Amino acid sequence: MLIKTRSRRQMGISIFVCLCFLARATDSKNLACDLQDFTALVGFLNDLESGIGGWGNDSVADCCTWPGVTCEFVHHIANITLSRVVSLELPHKRLKGKLNKSLGGLEYLRVLNLSNNFFWDHLPNELFRFKFLEVLDLSSNDFIGNLTAEISLPSLLVLNLSDNWLEGLFSTGICGVASRLQVLDLSLNLFTDKIPQTIRNCSFLEVLSLGSNYFEGNLPEDLFQLSKLRELNVEDNQFTGLLSPNVSKLTNLVEFEISTNGFFGTFPDTFYNLRKLKRFSANSNRFIGSLPPSLTSSQSIISLNVRNNSLNGSIALNCSSMVSLISLALSSNSFSGPFPENLSSCKKLTSLDLSRNKFSSQLPESFKNLTSLSYLSLSNCSLQNLTATLAILQHCQNLSFLVLTLNFRDEVMPDYNHLQFSRLTTLVIANCPLSGSVPYWLQSCSNLQLLDLSWNRLTGHIPNFLGAMKLLFYLDLSRNMLSEEIPEGLTKLENLSNQNVTLVELSKDFYIFTSSSTARGLRYNLIQGLPPTLDLSSNHLTGPIMAEFGNLKQLHVLNLSNNNLSGHIPESLSNITSLETLDLSDNSLIGIIPPSFARLSFLSKFSVAFNKLSGHIPTGGQFSTFPESSFAGNEDLCAYKSTRCPSVPEEKPGENPIELEDEKVFVIGLPFATGAVAGFILVVTICYLSGWLFREEDTQKRVEIAWKRMFSTSH
Ligand SMILES: *[C@@H]1O[C@H](CO)[C@@H](O)[C@H](O)[C@H]1NC(C)=O
Ligand SMILES: *[C@@H]1O[C@H](CO)[C@@H](O)[C@H](O)[C@H]1NC(C)=O
Ligand SMILES: *[C@@H]1O[C@H](CO)[C@@H](O)[C@H](O)[C@H]1NC(C)=O
Ligand SMILES: *[C@@H]1O[C@H](CO)[C@@H](O)[C@H](O)[C@H]1NC(C)=O
Ligand SMILES: *[C@@H]1O[C@H](CO)[C@@H](O)[C@H](O)[C@H]1NC(C)=O
Ligand SMILES: *[C@@H]1O[C@H](CO)[C@@H](O)[C@H](O)[C@H]1NC(C)=O
Ligand SMILES: *[C@@H]1O[C@H](CO)[C@@H](O)[C@H](O)[C@H]1NC(C)=O
Ligand SMILES: *[C@@H]1O[C@H](CO)[C@@H](O)[C@H](O)[C@H]1NC(C)=O
Ligand SMILES: *[C@@H]1O[C@H](CO)[C@@H](O)[C@H](O)[C@H]1NC(C)=O
Ligand SMILES: *[C@@H]1O[C@H](CO)[C@@H](O)[C@H](O)[C@H]1NC(C)=O
Ligand SMILES: *[C@@H]1O[C@H](CO)[C@@H](O)[C@H](O)[C@H]1NC(C)=O
Ligand SMILES: *[C@@H]1O[C@H](CO)[C@@H](O)[C@H](O)[C@H]1NC(C)=O
Repeated sequence: MLIKTRSRRQMGISIFVCLCFLARATDSKNLACDLQDFTALVGFLNDLESGIGGWGNDSVADCCTWPGVTCEFVHHIANITLSRVVSLELPHKRLKGKLNKSLGGLEYLRVLNLSNNFFWDHLPNELFRFKFLEVLDLSSNDFIGNLTAEISLPSLLVLNLSDNWLEGLFSTGICGVASRLQVLDLSLNLFTDKIPQTIRNCSFLEVLSLGSNYFEGNLPEDLFQLSKLRELNVEDNQFTGLLSPNVSKLTNLVEFEISTNGFFGTFPDTFYNLRKLKRFSANSNRFIGSLPPSLTSSQSIISLNVRNNSLNGSIALNCSSMVSLISLALSSNSFSGPFPENLSSCKKLTSLDLSRNKFSSQLPESFKNLTSLSYLSLSNCSLQNLTATLAILQHCQNLSFLVLTLNFRDEVMPDYNHLQFSRLTTLVIANCPLSGSVPYWLQSCSNLQLLDLSWNRLTGHIPNFLGAMKLLFYLDLSRNMLSEEIPEGLTKLENLSNQNVTLVELSKDFYIFTSSSTARGLRYNLIQGLPPTLDLSSNHLTGPIMAEFGNLKQLHVLNLSNNNLSGHIPESLSNITSLETLDLSDNSLIGIIPPSFARLSFLSKFSVAFNKLSGHIPTGGQFSTFPESSFAGNEDLCAYKSTRCPSVPEEKPGENPIELEDEKVFVIGLPFATGAVAGFILVVTICYLSGWLFREEDTQKRVEIAWKRMFSTSH
């Protein structure tokens, strides 16, 4: 038994630490705390803006019992064994503050994990001098600055600095000292470096993740010397150049992600050697030519994503060889020729995106055989014969997500009651334009959550049965020629009335909004980002807006504009408290704007322009933010923001109708210039304009992080 005594001058306390060799294998909670470790931890604690539950500074000898702290016996100089802190793990604790330099005093630390907190400021250099540190995870914090510190961590195996605000150059000279580094994750920062040749020294590296930074230059040949690499992720950077055939040297590669960069040229036909490769994504680059045989006959690939390049030729997948293939995204290329019939023998295919290519002809009968298929997008494929297409696809029993937008030019919406799509959750057949009516076979789609038939030429009435779709949260029938009254059924949509909106679960590999693929924000599950919506605008609907619409309390977007609706604006709409967009413009509504609308605190887009409304414009709330154009074209409505509101309404002199017309167009933010794009994409545009998605890259990242935080803390 050994008794160690030290005095701690600052606090004037003496502590007695008992180290029992016999207790070696027992719980660290029974070990005593070393004074140096204690001092370091207290320094750390004192710099936090909040405390840490279970931590205190009075019971000096106890720090080994504090949550997140692990002590162990370690060999000290002269064969003396001490109880020291070897690991500090406090992820997801909502801790906020700077890292105190005194942490460097934890000289025996092997694991430091402070991921998913709110630490900020520069990383103290002292952190990079731990002799024994094996795992350093500071991911998902708010650290800033350059990593200029001399990184001297000879034992390091895992370094995760992902999702911070680090910038400037990153020297991979790190492996000069940390020669056994296995995992390096610098993704989601602001680094601007090239990958230096010294990366070659990281010869033990198994995972290298540099995604979502501003890295540039080529992938250096030295990278292909790292033969232990399992995961290589450089997506969403500014890399350029050809993809070297030497990529074949990375024989252990399982995941290879190079999407959203500036790579160009043809794919090297050297994938034969990558026998473990499961996921390859190279989307949103400038690759040309055809898919090389070594790729299209890979037995290991599960997911292949080359969408949004300039690939051409016909699609020649060798399905008898590609036995693992589950997800295939070839959209937004220049593939041509007849529809790739051979795909139908890839029996495991679950997700298939062929949109935005130039196939001719009908969907082949053999697609009936794709019984695993769950996600299918064929939008903008020059596809013909919707009747045949649906007749074939109804045999795909697992189909839940079907997008057929921008095909079937001028055909008729088939209306056979025997069509059965009971698993379908999402159906988009927009912008074809189809004639006919809203078909009755939709009644079989009882699981539908999203239905978009916008930008067609459908006539007749909106069927009442749509209201019985219990899960529907997004209905877009805008820009058709639908007439008659809005059926009462729509006011009973359960998923829009109840508190629990059930949302579609989408595979991450699947994209709907193919044309906007290069924008950063669009890589996320878009459907989940879509607001609960009812859009019946630009039809010929008549009759009143039923008061029962106020039941749709979950609605975020209600657009009934550009119809022939009459009667009063029901006051009950002010019960839809989450409403963000309300457009009733271009109808024949009379009466007042209910003053209770001022309670709609999320309302950011509002228009009642070009109706026959009268009375006062509500004051307060969001109403102080709406532009004059929101109310234009209502002759009897009091002058906007006018302090003087005459009891007898008078004509406002000097208004320029053309100017108003222009503004009206942009009230709801629909850029009509993009008429060639699907109505669905318009939704995205609205999302942009209303802040659901963002354009500026840096702001974008900050917002993304804010969202991530919000979701991770709310669960
Ligand atoms: C670290 O904490 C100690 C003790 O609370 C304090 O005296 C010191 O100023 C802090 N150092 C830094 C760099 O914040
Ligand atoms: C630690 O001690 C200081 C001064 O003695 C005190 O102000 C502080 O509240 C203590 N912190 C905790 C977490 O007990
Ligand atoms: C440490 O112990 C080893 C045997 O376990 C011994 O050979 C060595 O001399 C000791 N060193 C010191 C400095 O006591
Ligand atoms: C850090 O802790 C989190 C949460 O427990 C865990 O998911 C993560 O894998 C840890 N980091 C490392 C490098 O082990
Ligand atoms: C790094 O941390 C982030 C966030 O905590 C996590 O998502 C990621 O998987 C980690 N990277 C590695 C390679 O484990
Ligand atoms: C940090 O990086 C930024 C951006 O690259 C650069 O402008 C700045 O000079 C760097 N600062 C230091 C201290 O290296
Ligand atoms: C890389 O390793 C070589 C020896 O293998 C060494 O000479 C060189 O200094 C190392 N480079 C760096 C940046 O550490
Ligand atoms: C591939 O590697 C070999 C040997 O390592 C080298 O000679 C060749 O130049 C490399 N190929 C390219 C395209 O750089
Ligand atoms: C479906 O596959 C079977 C063999 O698995 C084949 O005999 C049949 O012709 C295929 N059906 C179509 C419509 O191609
Ligand atoms: C659509 O396909 C069906 C079945 O293949 C065929 O009978 C019909 O003639 C086609 N219609 C048109 C307009 O090509
Ligand atoms: C919402 O879901 C919760 C749990 O999933 C359930 O307890 C609650 O009754 C549901 N509310 C409504 C209005 O359906
Ligand atoms: C709003 O909803 C409440 C309860 O759901 C109801 O009592 C009230 O009448 C509604 N308000 C209007 C104006 O319809």
